[in-house]
Amino acid sequence: MLATTSNPHTLQDSAAAPPLFTPLRVRSIEVPNRIVISPMQQYRADRDGKPNHWHQSHLTKLAVGGAGLVFTEALAVEAQGRATHSDLGIWNDEQMEALKVVAEEIARQGAVAGAQLIHAGRKASVQKPWDGYQSLGPADAARGEEPWTVVGPSAVPANPGWATPEPLTRDAIRRIVDAFAQGARRLARAGFQALNIHGAHGYLIHSFLSPLSNLREDEYGGDLAGRMRFALDIAEAVRSEWPAHLPIFYRLSCIDDLPGGWTLEDTVVLSRELGARGIDVIDCSSRGLGPRGTLATATQGEGFQVPFAERVRAETGIKTMAVGLIRSAGFANSIVREGRTDFVAIAREALFNPHWPLHAALELGHDPKFTAWPDSYGWWLARRARTAPPVQ
Ligand SMILES: Cc1cc2nc3c(=O)[nH]c(=O)nc-3n(C[C@H](O)[C@H](O)[C@H](O)COP(=O)(O)O)c2cc1C
Repeated sequence: MLATTSNPHTLQDSAAAPPLFTPLRVRSIEVPNRIVISPMQQYRADRDGKPNHWHQSHLTKLAVGGAGLVFTEALAVEAQGRATHSDLGIWNDEQMEALKVVAEEIARQGAVAGAQLIHAGRKASVQKPWDGYQSLGPADAARGEEPWTVVGPSAVPANPGWATPEPLTRDAIRRIVDAFAQGARRLARAGFQALNIHGAHGYLIHSFLSPLSNLREDEYGGDLAGRMRFALDIAEAVRSEWPAHLPIFYRLSCIDDLPGGWTLEDTVVLSRELGARGIDVIDCSSRGLGPRGTLATATQGEGFQVPFAERVRAETGIKTMAVGLIRSAGFANSIVREGRTDFVAIAREALFNPHWPLHAALELGHDPKFTAWPDSYGWWLARRARTAPPVQ
């Protein structure tokens, strides 16, 4: 067992707690509150796909912030499945060993340690966002970032001007399904207690689901059942390697929001099938498939994806996680209270304020004495609150 600090995430009386701060058990794991740090790629690995000091301090900091569950960024299941040269991976044992330290430190701070698995598919071999986010080309190769072959269900590029993917053969599909399973096996050995399979945002799994990117005529394409086959094969393979007492989240783009694309009705059908294969939580995101309308450019309102989580939860009975522009404690608490979602994931708000969950507890009147904070911080903050006038 790990020696943890006093668990800063569980406050004394959970019966009287605001819904956002009630624990929730999934399989044998009790998540101490409903706030989850959503996976966030850092594009800061040193070519070897291994976490370094940046990842360690970034994730430890977020665990100190009081979330019940902290997911790592997406970990590529094979080198070809990275998006950039600087992504993390889980395709070898050295990566597993390095990730053990990350999992241990998240748990030591009182959060459940989670990890996400990805294959970037046709969105692989790209520049970092701040380098332009285009397919890697000769100029990138000249500065040491060689492009590599990208793969997908069909020869349809992700964006105009991006690399055309090589359609995967059945053998290659089986190899990638197995890579997901091996990634899960390594993450369990690394000590993670929750898994998230990235089936959203236009990456490989999503590109098999959508009729806009999957033009195959074999059993992995065609009708809805064919297009879902790859996602479901991965769910089965991962579930068989991942310990039965630990939960699996599956991230979906609930809608493509493009004419002729994947719909919320399709998501409900897929969620039921995933539930039947032992997936515990549907993580409800959206979009990311087609011509770019990304986070960086789209204007949306608070909790714009919550209706997807609400519908999936109501129609399938499977637990959900809502994500996307959830910024205020009151809103986050209300969507749990109203039964619209089980978990609330935050990403950019946690970059803005890594202590967001602790601030939310304060704001909801759940932790007026700063007892959920690590002693080294809370002792001082409680005294300051008593003696200093509020900042106007
Ligand atoms: C820096 C950054 C990196 C991200 N990387 C991932 C990732 O690795 N996997 C993933 O599923 N989503 C990723 N996302 C999407 C977030 O997990 C989240 O779904 C999205 O940012 C919307 O939530 P927000 O409004 O709270 O930021 C990333 C987002 C950001 C801002």
